[in-house]
Amino acid sequence: MLPTISQAKILARIHHKFLVSMIGYCKDGNCAALVYEYMSEGTLDEHIQGNLAPFTWRQRIRIAMESAQGLEYLHKGCNPPLIHRDVKMNNILLNANLEAKIADFGLSKALPSDSQSHITTLVAGTHGYLDPEYHMTSQLTEKSDVYSFGVVLLEQITGQKAIIRALNQGSENTHIVQWVRKRLVRGNIESVVDARMQGDYDLNSVWKVADLALKCTMPCGSQRPTMPEVVIKLKECMELEVSGEPMKVYPSYYTSQNSRNGTVRSGNYHTANSGNGPARSTIYYTAMSNAS
Ligand SMILES: Nc1ncnc2c1ncn2[C@@H]1O[C@H](COP(=O)(O)OP(=O)(O)OP(=O)(O)O)[C@@H](O)[C@H]1O
Ligand SMILES: [Mg+2]
Repeated sequence: MLPTISQAKILARIHHKFLVSMIGYCKDGNCAALVYEYMSEGTLDEHIQGNLAPFTWRQRIRIAMESAQGLEYLHKGCNPPLIHRDVKMNNILLNANLEAKIADFGLSKALPSDSQSHITTLVAGTHGYLDPEYHMTSQLTEKSDVYSFGVVLLEQITGQKAIIRALNQGSENTHIVQWVRKRLVRGNIESVVDARMQGDYDLNSVWKVADLALKCTMPCGSQRPTMPEVVIKLKECMELEVSGEPMKVYPSYYTSQNSRNGTVRSGNYHTANSGNGPARSTIYYTAMSNAS
């Protein structure tokens, strides 16, 4: 997304560990550019769906927790609150320590006052991540970011894209939310989990994240959790993964299917790779459009 003056203004007033910082801007004649902290390890998309080494489950939860905290700050820590509007795998970047940060505030909107829960605005966002309620009503709320974040969670669990292409000609593409829901109703989480993790995860922890992702992607915003609630849940998932305790945490509507086929087990974990290399001081800059 080409950054704009409005993006520069937003970036100048937000500072958080899990948001990509704007270092400054440069101007040379008619050409202007925003300068960001450099995120050397690329986008989340490149690690989950691209050719880079796949992340372990523990790394995936940590990345989800960090990006959720970035969004929580936009919704609850900023005054006025900000809605990102373009949460997606490509806009979650990783630094040399594999810390995740939310990037790209080109579509962000401020809510006019704390008391107002929505604004009516032209629909914008990315196909596959767009909140269906916002799409239908043009009413933007913080729950639109929650929906997009839920799609990101599902992509992290499954390694699939938001829109799953049909394998056969003549068949229709499927949205990841429908794809996952259909399989989880049968109680079979292993049929959706990314095979690149090679079964190396705590099944309870994956169930809990999948349950959270499905709640985030409920059709009505009012049924979705808030970002602070998402952060709390993800912390619980991480605790579960770290402790490896085979606790019963299945959401109630999955329990019967699972107790029937008895798929309770816990896995061995890789140690999260914190990539302890030196932080790079390089910066990333991008040309700025003159639109305000
Ligand atoms: N701060 C940064 N540090 C390093 N690389 C970056 C940084 N910001 C962006 N990039 C790289 O530039 C690419 C393009 O980013 P950009 O936001 O322009 O497009 P996008 O996210 O792929 O799509 P969209 O235009 O829909 O946002 C990203 O995918 C990422 O690889
Ligand atoms: Mg982007």
